Amino acid sequence: TVYEKTATSPVNIAVIKYWGKRDTSLILPTNSSLSVTLSQDYLHSKTTIRASPDFEKTRLWLNGVEDTDIEKNKRLQNCFRETRRLRKEYEEKLCKDKGADNVIPLSEYNLHICSENNFPTAAGLASSASGFACLTYTLSQLFELPISATELSKIARQGSGSACRSLFGGFVAWEMGSQDDGSDSQAVQVAPQDHWPELEALICVVSDTKKGTSSTEGMQNTVNTSTLLQHRIEHVVPLRMKSMIKAIHERDYQKFAEITMQDSNQFHAVCLDTFPPIFYLNDVSRAIIRVITEYNSSNPERKLKAAYTFDAGPNAVIYTTSENIPEIINLIAKYFPSNENTSDYFSDPFQLFVGKTIGEQPLPLGFNDQIIPVFPKGSVKQILHTKVGEGPKVIAGE
Ligand code: DP6
Repeated sequence: TVYEKTATSPVNIAVIKYWGKRDTSLILPTNSSLSVTLSQDYLHSKTTIRASPDFEKTRLWLNGVEDTDIEKNKRLQNCFRETRRLRKEYEEKLCKDKGADNVIPLSEYNLHICSENNFPTAAGLASSASGFACLTYTLSQLFELPISATELSKIARQGSGSACRSLFGGFVAWEMGSQDDGSDSQAVQVAPQDHWPELEALICVVSDTKKGTSSTEGMQNTVNTSTLLQHRIEHVVPLRMKSMIKAIHERDYQKFAEITMQDSNQFHAVCLDTFPPIFYLNDVSRAIIRVITEYNSSNPERKLKAAYTFDAGPNAVIYTTSENIPEIINLIAKYFPSNENTSDYFSDPFQLFVGKTIGEQPLPLGFNDQIIPVFPKGSVKQILHTKVGEGPKVIAGE
C-alpha cells in the first residue's frame, strides 16, 4: 500500500526584509518581516509525497534529479523530524479514541518525495521559500495533522526562514518572537488574498546567471560585521512593521510604496555595510531604480505609482496598481529592450496586454527621457506580470 499527496505552494516577496538570524539552527530572525504572496498561476513549487511500509529509505528528487545526500541536510531533517513527531502524537491520540487497528502508522514509513519548481529556467528566481513551504505543507496534509498554518509555519521556518511566510496567501507577517526555543517565531496573515485586488506585481528578470553570496551565508556575515544592522533591527523595522500593516489594512498605496522602497534600500545598504561588502544589485538593477524614481516624480502630484524591491539578487519586483501596468511595462521595455526572437519577453497569464504592442505607447507626461541610456538588448530577459495570490493547496490525493 502507498499513501500519496500532492500540493503546490506560492512564492513570496518581502516588502520588509528578513536579514539576520539570532539562532542559525532553529532559524530565528533578528527582525520581523512582511511579504506579499504571489499568484501560483505563474510561479509555484509542487511536491508529491508517497509513504509506504515497503520503501527501504526516504528519498528526495528535486526537479527530477535525486538528492542522495539528504541525511546530511539538517534543514530537511528538521522538517521531517518535526512533522513525524506531530504525526506520532496524533497516532497515539487516534489509538486511544478509535483503537490501534484503525490507525495507519505513517510516522514510521519511509517517504518518496518529488519536488519541482515551475519557474521559467532563465528566471533565477529559484527560491527555497516556496520549496520548503511546499514540503512542510504536503507532509502535514499526508499526515492529516490537526494544526493551523501558523503552527506549521514554525516547522517550515526551520527549512528556510522566508518559507514560513509562504504558508499563507495574501499579506503575511513573520513575527520574530522572543523565545529561545522559537515557539513564538511564526507567520500570521495580515490580510487575505482578495483584500487589495488592484495591487499587482511585475517581476523583471535581470540577466545575471552568476550566483553571488547565498542569503544564508550573507546574512550571517552581516550580523557579525554590520553596525547599521543593529540600528535597523532596533530602531527601524519595529516602526516600519506597524506602519506597513496599517498601510495594507487601509490599502494606502502611498505609504505601502514608500516603505517598500525604503526597506529594500536599507537592506542593500546593510549589505554594503557588511565587511567585506556584499553586492546584490547590478547596473541594470540600479537603472531600474532610476526609471521608477523618475516615473514617480514625473506626475504633477508626485504620487508614488510604482515601488521596486530587490532580494539577494539583481531581479526587480515592482509592486504597482492595475492602472499603471501598461505604462510601466512600456518604460521597462524602452530602456531594457528584449533580445531578438524572444517571444517570452513578456509573460502575462492575466491577458492584460492583449491587442497592445510594447514600445508603442507614448512616455508618461513629464517623464525625462534623458535620465538613462537604453541598455543592450536582453539586459532584462523577461517581465512577468503577476498579482497577489493564495496559500498552499492540495491538488491530488484528496
Ligand atoms: C533577501 O529565507 O533564503 O529574500 O533562512 O537562511 O534560508 P535562510 O534565508 P532565506 O533569506 C531570504 C532573504 C531575503 C529577504 C526576505 O525574503 O525577507
